[in-house]
Amino acid sequence: MSFTVAAFSSSPRSRANSEILTDRLLAGAEKSGASVTKAGLHHLSIKACTACGACQSTAEAPCVIDDDMSDLIAQVRAADALVFASPIYFAAVNAQMKLFLDRLFAVFGGGDFLALEGKRMGVVLTYGADDPFESGAVNALRMFQDAAFFLKMDLRGWVHAACMDPGDVESNSSALDAAFALGEKLARDC
Ligand SMILES: Cc1cc2nc3c(=O)[nH]c(=O)nc-3n(C[C@H](O)[C@H](O)[C@H](O)COP(=O)(O)O)c2cc1C
Repeated sequence: MSFTVAAFSSSPRSRANSEILTDRLLAGAEKSGASVTKAGLHHLSIKACTACGACQSTAEAPCVIDDDMSDLIAQVRAADALVFASPIYFAAVNAQMKLFLDRLFAVFGGGDFLALEGKRMGVVLTYGADDPFESGAVNALRMFQDAAFFLKMDLRGWVHAACMDPGDVESNSSALDAAFALGEKLARDC
């Protein structure tokens, strides 16, 4: 079985900067021998968590909401490394990404918050402001850092870039190179 990297990308735009960086990251992971998948969250049906608690009743209890999240949860469980890619909206990840992250609660059935222990994590964030602090990208990264710490996941790094319009990041060779390198790092021991 090869090492698998599953990316979850939340931009609604075509030629999205975060998705361009994600594709470079996945190319790096593939070069290191991983098999890769990418899900475009904006194009899927992901309803908001209602905090009903049904998924927490036992380790096997599924989420009771009938939408595309059951497939995504299966992808999360099966992957060795997870990549979360989002544009920054209002100084945080966008709503599509937050819906997805909240619904990952169902992975931790029966209160087993170590269900993803040891899985690797990579983060891709794009934003319009020049500065990653002013943009909110650091705020979003801190959310992933806290989650990785709590869940005992292995946060291997993040790629971020200031870019406003679709495709802007294509001229940012250092960000593209950093994305490729993070893909390699996610997929190999180092
Ligand atoms: C609704 C909305 C909110 C945004 N909020 C921020 C923000 O808080 N900080 C920022 O730096 N850029 C913000 N931006 C700019 C986007 O982050 C920027 O265009 C980025 O390149 C989008 O990434 P994408 O091409 O992957 O969708 C916002 C854009 C939109 C549409």
